[in-house]
Amino acid sequence: MIQRIYTLFVVVVLLTACKEEVEKEKAVAVKTTKQYAETYRPQYHFSPKSGWMNDPNGLVYHDGIYHLFYQYFPDATVWGPMHWGHAVSQDLVNWKHKPIALFPDEKGFIFSGSAVVDVNNTSGFGKDGKVPLVAVFTYFRLDIEKAGGINTQTQGIAYSLDNGDTWIKYEGNPVLDNTTMKDFRDPKVFWHEDTESWIMVLVAGDHAKLYRSKNLKDWNHISDFGKEQGAHGGVWECPDLFKLKVEGSDEEKWVLIISIGSGGPNGGSGTQYFIGNFDGDNFISDQTMHRWLDWGADNYAGVTYNNTPNGDRIFVGWMSNWQYALKTPTSTWRSAMTLPRKLSLKKRDGFYDLKNYPISRFDFSKGLSGQKKIIDSTQPFNLTENALGQAVISFKAPKKSFKLSVGNVLGEATTLLFDMNSNLLMLDRTKSGKTNFNYEFGNKLHYMPVKDLPEEFEVKLFLDRSSIEIFLNKGQYVMTDQIFPTAAYTNLTIENESMNSIELDDFKLQGISSIWEGDD
Ligand code: FRU
Repeated sequence: MIQRIYTLFVVVVLLTACKEEVEKEKAVAVKTTKQYAETYRPQYHFSPKSGWMNDPNGLVYHDGIYHLFYQYFPDATVWGPMHWGHAVSQDLVNWKHKPIALFPDEKGFIFSGSAVVDVNNTSGFGKDGKVPLVAVFTYFRLDIEKAGGINTQTQGIAYSLDNGDTWIKYEGNPVLDNTTMKDFRDPKVFWHEDTESWIMVLVAGDHAKLYRSKNLKDWNHISDFGKEQGAHGGVWECPDLFKLKVEGSDEEKWVLIISIGSGGPNGGSGTQYFIGNFDGDNFISDQTMHRWLDWGADNYAGVTYNNTPNGDRIFVGWMSNWQYALKTPTSTWRSAMTLPRKLSLKKRDGFYDLKNYPISRFDFSKGLSGQKKIIDSTQPFNLTENALGQAVISFKAPKKSFKLSVGNVLGEATTLLFDMNSNLLMLDRTKSGKTNFNYEFGNKLHYMPVKDLPEEFEVKLFLDRSSIEIFLNKGQYVMTDQIFPTAAYTNLTIENESMNSIELDDFKLQGISSIWEGDD
């Protein structure tokens, strides 16, 4: 099936008028300064100036600012003693780098965790009416691990009284000690209105543990979840627990997100979710099968923002996979984050789908706006350099099989095959560009089952210099993959299997400007 040959109808979507728009966008985009102009450097996704990055940490909004902290090793482009790097944004699109927020110390490396706004000063860290931001993180002792000990992971806290610019670690750390569990990390803390207390969810190997506190310093264990539920192909990591409204109703459900280090949907790292209820003590879900938040290979360790201004639940993931994260062919930095995505819940035949879709700042309405594009030509269509290197493409597709490729003059291409007979989307990055840095990266197709799509559904693709994010039906099905084209993609081709034409409604293509202009 995969080998099916799509010779017949190469289409190409044609868009002369639109080309000019793209050129204009490009003119802005290529003005990047040297640093953010390196080969493969994401132009509108967050990446650190230099050094190694993994998980997003401490996602919190306070006083007009979205904070993005992240697992960071500034001295090399591979994992090492972990710090919390820091960046801020007013719109979740444009980012400003800040000094490192948390450095490793004698109690350990600073592993993943979260941050809260302690509005009522429950911690007592507030002074002179200044509201403390409190970070809750895992301390990790590599020296103990090397010596064969298992008591390597404990939880610590730190606070800031200047909206994240400077941090003071609490002298009473660790606030949650541990001598018995090898894996005991990644605390996500949130304020629980009904019980007027802080709840912490963290992971302990094959399950999640919940704790309660009145002051962020003293924690009591309240329950466990998940030993017998969900996917267990790898150790559980980076949990998140929150309430979401079900679309089109007043019903509310609780969602638990859990990353797993291996056994993901297309190999290696993956992110699963559970839908259930949380009564202040226990999270309960009757879901036995695992569900994936993203079917691609490169969306891991994602968590959501605390305290967003309008209550939106916004998710950011690390766009990589532990299978090959240390080997990707970037130069002075390694890794980027996914686009920020709004989460929503949709009820379908008694099940709840957790949808994720880029925040509305990424709803582009200008660019190549077309009404209907009929795929009935054999003329190849090429866009100018860079236009597809950083672009969003969207259209409404009928539930018919077709193939879409984006590629470059060197013959490198990333191909999506929509097979509506078997309800599958296959992503082929085996010839997408540089793949030979690791066997697992380019050795197979990535599959996403796409049952239950409506007769017409939106296809939206975000391409950046080293990633593709695919959203079907506004986030019902999502795939995120890294790709490393050695020259910018310039061609978009859509083919269909038969002589029949395919109508793509509302076709749009827009180049996206770099967010890093002027960055030095
Ligand atoms: C997930 C993870 C976390 C840990 C961090 C260390 O990618 O393994 O569980 O806190 O990375 O950098």
